Amino acid sequence: MAKIPPKFVGLQHIAIKVHDIELARRFYTEILGFTITENYKPGEIPDFPFGLCFMRCTELHHDVNLVYWPKGEVNSEEQRSFDSIQVGVHHFALQVENRNVLEEWKSHLESNEIEIFYGPAIHSPTHPEGDGLWGENHALYISDPSGNSIEIFCDMAPMDPYTNRVNEKWFRDRLSRDGHNPIDYDPPQAGKID
Ligand SMILES: [Fe+2]
Repeated sequence: MAKIPPKFVGLQHIAIKVHDIELARRFYTEILGFTITENYKPGEIPDFPFGLCFMRCTELHHDVNLVYWPKGEVNSEEQRSFDSIQVGVHHFALQVENRNVLEEWKSHLESNEIEIFYGPAIHSPTHPEGDGLWGENHALYISDPSGNSIEIFCDMAPMDPYTNRVNEKWFRDRLSRDGHNPIDYDPPQAGKID
């Protein structure tokens, strides 16, 4: 079997389809704090029927692209992507520095009347505040005006490559940071992979 090239260094941008570019631009810039890098309307890009709005939340050119068609041509999904059985992106995730920043985001979203439809929750089977799910990420979930669901999170677990378990030192340090006794709880067992 051919050797696989060096591993990917990470997941980077996501391009999502929106039904109303004005609503989307307002949501991503005024609520989520993105900066627009450049924007081309439908018809401005040769051979492409759609418009492209490049936005960033880092120093890179784009982290999220909005893909859009002339107003009225595409309807919004009535259901948010999180609950829809349509194939495609279920949700994408934006990382914040720590739990305190996540709390700040929660207050900000609430004061702007953005519905948090799940969380904040710690996705963990063994953390005392855990919801029984996996990854250890501390997360909340919202949707953009077109129904694309977005997770905002901190504390994604680093993994031990030999045991395929959550790194134990990180797990115990995180328990301490969260105000728990680090020896009272153990990292989850290796998960099922079959
Ligand atoms: Fe997620």
